[in-house]
Amino acid sequence: MKLAEEIRALSNSYFEEVRAIRRHIHMYPELSFKEEKTAAYVSSTLDSYGIAYRDKIAGTGIVASIKGTQSESDKVICLRADLDALPIQEKTALEYASKNDGIMHACGHDVHTSSLLGAAKIINQYRSQFAGEIKLIFQPGEELLPGGASLLIKEGVLQHPVPEAIIGQHVMPEMPVGKVGFRPGLYMASTDELYITVKGKGGHGAMPHKLIDPVMMAAQLLVALQQVVSRWASPSIPTVLSFGKFQADGATNVIPDEVKIEGTFRTFDEAWRAKAHEKMRNFAKSFIEGMGGTIDFDIRNGYPFLKNDEVLTKFLTQEAVQYMGASNVEAMDLRTTGEDFAFYTHHVPGCFYRIGTGNIEKGITASVHNPHFSIDEDALKTGMGLMAYLAIKKI
Ligand code: NI
Repeated sequence: MKLAEEIRALSNSYFEEVRAIRRHIHMYPELSFKEEKTAAYVSSTLDSYGIAYRDKIAGTGIVASIKGTQSESDKVICLRADLDALPIQEKTALEYASKNDGIMHACGHDVHTSSLLGAAKIINQYRSQFAGEIKLIFQPGEELLPGGASLLIKEGVLQHPVPEAIIGQHVMPEMPVGKVGFRPGLYMASTDELYITVKGKGGHGAMPHKLIDPVMMAAQLLVALQQVVSRWASPSIPTVLSFGKFQADGATNVIPDEVKIEGTFRTFDEAWRAKAHEKMRNFAKSFIEGMGGTIDFDIRNGYPFLKNDEVLTKFLTQEAVQYMGASNVEAMDLRTTGEDFAFYTHHVPGCFYRIGTGNIEKGITASVHNPHFSIDEDALKTGMGLMAYLAIKKI
């Protein structure tokens, strides 16, 4: 039998086991960097498979290792899953809905982790057929700055030796179950948080000439800052600047002393990202000072942009076609959402692909980070099988 057929058959036979793992993790979600029980559950599953691992890396991180026995080789590739859930109250009526109040696996990290465990079980059976080492990274805190990936990199998970590639997957409810998506090159945006306080002098709204009105200054600043996107960003670098919070806590006739604004800045180029931060700060300062106010402008760096290595991603796309069939492998668009897998892709060649988890006929359409999010669990077959197949083909 060909490898693809064998692994498809194994994925079918391990489906119920991996589904049970996924449901357990889904029922007991934990917030970012607090994934103690989830990590213990992953460890005990690895124990039952006889797979060696190191745990408690950067808190709750686990790195497991499967070494091929074919011949001596220093070659290493990494597969990555994330462990954390979100502060969302689940509103699905699923029998395995979250039992932890206010916490939910609404971004599919339960799917990524259970799929990687299923892949581990499969890969472990093929040790005699490859040389080198396949490392399985179960990382904490994807959803919260500074991102578990950045901490694991500091702990040296991409060293001794440096892996040739790192591969990650993510659920995609907009894509039908049974399909996967790849994109070589730029894929997801860098994400920075902006916290601005515009300060003036508040007072009675009837006498603005005696005040320094922070509401008007902040409103004009919001509009003026859109020049970052329309005039300063190169048309060849996608850039987004959005503000979701504008807080002027006065009244019809009361002008407050200060206004708070919060927003997000996203782009796909590190040099431009740094330059944009500086330009925004300088521009906002002189703009507000020119009107007699003062400003605090705090920019908190989020994740870098995510780039899929061209050569690696084209290779894995071809292999995915072998495994899934050409009609089930889609090309994907750029996204301006962020993902901490991006950190890895700035150190070693990486590929972050999507697995379809939606099913319109079954009414499974809710997007990620939504209290109604769920998946067609058939996606777990792809989640474990394709990951195992790609790892064995790449090593
Ligand atoms: Ni996610």
